[in-house]
Amino acid sequence: ERLPALLAALPKAELHIHIEGSLEPEMIFALARRNGVALPYASVQELHRAYAFTDLQSFLDIYYAGASVLLHEQDFYDMTRAYLARAAMDNVVHAEIFFDPQTHTARGVALETVVDGLHRACADARAEQGISASLILCFLRHLSEDDAFATLEQAMPFLDRIIGVGLDSSELGHPPEKFARVFARCRQLGLHVVAHAGEEGPPAYIWGALDVLKAERIDHGVQAVRDPALMRRLANERIPLTVCPLSNQKLCVFPDLSRHSLKQLLDAGLVATVNSDDPAYFGGYINDNFSQTFAALPALTAQDAWQLASNSFEASFAAESDKRAWQ
Ligand code: ADE
Ligand code: ZN
Repeated sequence: ERLPALLAALPKAELHIHIEGSLEPEMIFALARRNGVALPYASVQELHRAYAFTDLQSFLDIYYAGASVLLHEQDFYDMTRAYLARAAMDNVVHAEIFFDPQTHTARGVALETVVDGLHRACADARAEQGISASLILCFLRHLSEDDAFATLEQAMPFLDRIIGVGLDSSELGHPPEKFARVFARCRQLGLHVVAHAGEEGPPAYIWGALDVLKAERIDHGVQAVRDPALMRRLANERIPLTVCPLSNQKLCVFPDLSRHSLKQLLDAGLVATVNSDDPAYFGGYINDNFSQTFAALPALTAQDAWQLASNSFEASFAAESDKRAWQ
């Protein structure tokens, strides 16, 4: 294994983690039992065997089924504490955590329950482990913009506990333009704005995320390599990409990790970062993403490893004083 000690020891920020995607199969079964929720899988092993994905949608179907065990504030708390404890082991000093409120409110769980659990876990992890964490509310792009507006309305009492909004779920057929008005409103409210774009979708969706949503970061963005003008823009404007190599491999975005575009992104001067996306489903947390990607791409250097960690702080929404302290 190449550079393992250096990679593992680097302090880093994680900027692309769906908290519902950190639910390990064992915790899914434990919460199902605790809450009396029936699962369409007989055992942890059977659930794990279903993690054979062919594309983004084949993953999302199972990911939303897994999230159905989350009902109470304590469930959201336990999930988030488990993730932050695991992230701290990988020397993550700051995490910006995505959550999908519509996945829960559609099942009758109050948004307050979700935010209370996530926020209490972030506060306790900061106090007990010294890890910094903040929350980004994601709108589900397979649902309507009206549904996103209704979610924003429900979130108004909790905006002091949310640093920004994002856009996730099924990308193809749901371009950024569909959410132009709700993102404009979020920007007016002073929220940071990010969006998944160019995971499976074309470079045009990345242009749309930048020009229409005014996204400050692009989540994934790996399809940008297909568009040289877009590559120049991302580099010139220092728009960060939150890249998730193991996710891309498991969802067949690239045929193999050895064909991943991370090195091209770095060599073109883009502010690329490495992240885990949905670590419980894709076979690894952030250090696994670093080590497996460096093993698969011999062109990546120790300088690249340092650059990726440095980029993660530059790309974060943390205070400049914190960024300086962490680096
Ligand atoms: N939700 C959770 N993981 C996602 C991903 N990789 N792309 C889009 N939506 C998601
Ligand atoms: Zn994602």
